[in-house]
Amino acid sequence: MATVEVVEQMAVGDGLFSLRFRSPVDLRLAGAYHPGQFLHIRVSDSFDFLLRRPLSLCKADVSRNELTVIYRAQGEGTKRLSRVRAGDQLDVLGPLGRGFPIHDGDRHALLVAGGIGVPPMLELAHALKARGQQVTAVLGFQNARHVILQEELMAYGTVHIASDDGTVGTKGLVTDLLTDALCTGVNRYYACGPTPMLRAVQAAMQGCSVPGYLSLEERMGCGIGICVGCVHPIRRGGDVKQVKTCKEGPVFSSEEVVFT
Ligand SMILES: Cc1cc2nc3c(=O)[nH]c(=O)nc-3n(C[C@H](O)[C@H](O)[C@H](O)COP(=O)(O)OP(=O)(O)OC[C@H]3O[C@@H](n4cnc5c(N)ncnc54)[C@H](O)[C@@H]3O)c2cc1C
Ligand code: FES
Repeated sequence: MATVEVVEQMAVGDGLFSLRFRSPVDLRLAGAYHPGQFLHIRVSDSFDFLLRRPLSLCKADVSRNELTVIYRAQGEGTKRLSRVRAGDQLDVLGPLGRGFPIHDGDRHALLVAGGIGVPPMLELAHALKARGQQVTAVLGFQNARHVILQEELMAYGTVHIASDDGTVGTKGLVTDLLTDALCTGVNRYYACGPTPMLRAVQAAMQGCSVPGYLSLEERMGCGIGICVGCVHPIRRGGDVKQVKTCKEGPVFSSEEVVFT
């Protein structure tokens, strides 16, 4: 557990907020953070908000030792979090879990994300580009007012967008953009978003024979492997086991993720 100081909180879209705070760990240390990991944030001291909220690491600024998360204020906890201001203190655990593995032999990575699954893609794109990989991002949003991180991701590669109502990018689902032409030459994909999207991405990319990783959005309690509140069926060695996503995930190899 660490108490951190909030540096900045700002609105970045319709009900969407970016929260920057001092890192609970020294980011210069090897292994201090990895793209795809999450921060487990206590949103209030009140007894009503005992459960922390898991939010993906979006950006790590090593020179300032600061971390940024981007989140949608939808339920009571995240709405409470959106009222936090610069100078306030927050109780933050993490970065926790296992993030996206990066394969040094790869040349071209495809990032697929929907809605609040987009934030972890920024630090991932940064890391992939730093290792010399070409990055293509395919992002899905409800509408133009929910678009986040488009310009930031364009600094690392090509960005394609789909929206439910066609107010930005192509009208339709993010998976509609996963054509054979787009996947040609891609060594690996990385996906994060709601479960129906992940299921569809898994099927589409299996069809293109491209291996990849899925970041699962299970509900979490403790975030550190104690409460067993976050299990998901994972296929390993012919068996399907209930695995704790907070400790062994949230990122899993796509072929081992079972959707029921
Ligand atoms: C590994 C991981 C990374 C995530 N990263 C982000 C992110 O970067 N940005 C973002 O906006 N959201 C992210 N989420 C989803 C976010 O955690 C939930 O939207 C948030 O916890 C909901 O809390 P609430 O107070 O708004 O809702 P409430 O309904 O008040 O929450 C009640 C309880 O349910 C849990 N809960 C509700 N919805 C979810 C959900 N979809 N996933 C997990 N727990 C849930 C809450 O943590 C809380 O314990 C992530 C979830 C996981 C598991
Ligand atoms: S959230 Fe408690 S074991 Fe995973």
